Amino acid sequence: MKKMKGEVVISMCEKHINQDLIEQAKDALHCAYVPYSEFKVGAAVYTNGKIYKGCNIENASFGLTNCAERTAIFKAVSEGHKEIDAIAVIADTVGPVSPCGACRQVMAEFCNQDTIIYLTNFKGETKEYTISELLPGSFQATDMDK
Ligand code: THU
Repeated sequence: MKKMKGEVVISMCEKHINQDLIEQAKDALHCAYVPYSEFKVGAAVYTNGKIYKGCNIENASFGLTNCAERTAIFKAVSEGHKEIDAIAVIADTVGPVSPCGACRQVMAEFCNQDTIIYLTNFKGETKEYTISELLPGSFQATDMDK
C-alpha cells in the first residue's frame, strides 16, 4: 500500500483487503455502546495480515469514553502489533467521518507514512489520508529530546 506521486497504487489483492477492512469497520458498529450520544462509530485496523475491529464505548462519566479508532488500535497493540498497515473508520455522517484529535494523536504513534487511513460513511463516501495529512506536527518521541 504505497503512495507514489500522489497516486495510490493498489493491487487487486490490496483492493480486496481495503473493501474488507471497511466492511469490518461497519460490522464493528453493531457493538458500539452509545447510550448517551447514540452516535455509533466503527473502526478496523489491518496489521500483520490480521484485522482488529473496534467500536466506541461510552461511560456515564463522559470523559472516560473510548473512541472506536482507539479501541481497534489498542486491541492490535495489546496483541503485539505496533505497525499499522491500514485503518478504516466509519459512521453515519454527512461526509466521511472525521476522527477526533486524541485518536489522530494515537494514530500518529502507530501509523507511518505508508499507512492508509480510510474515512468513510454509510453512503460509501470514502477518502484516503496519511497520518501527516490528518495531524501535521503531531507530538513525537523526539519532541522530548533535550
Ligand atoms: N467518537 C469516536 O468513536 N471516534 C471519533 O474519532 C470521534 C468521536 C465517538 C465518541 C463518542 O462515543 C461519540 O463518538 C460522540 O462523540
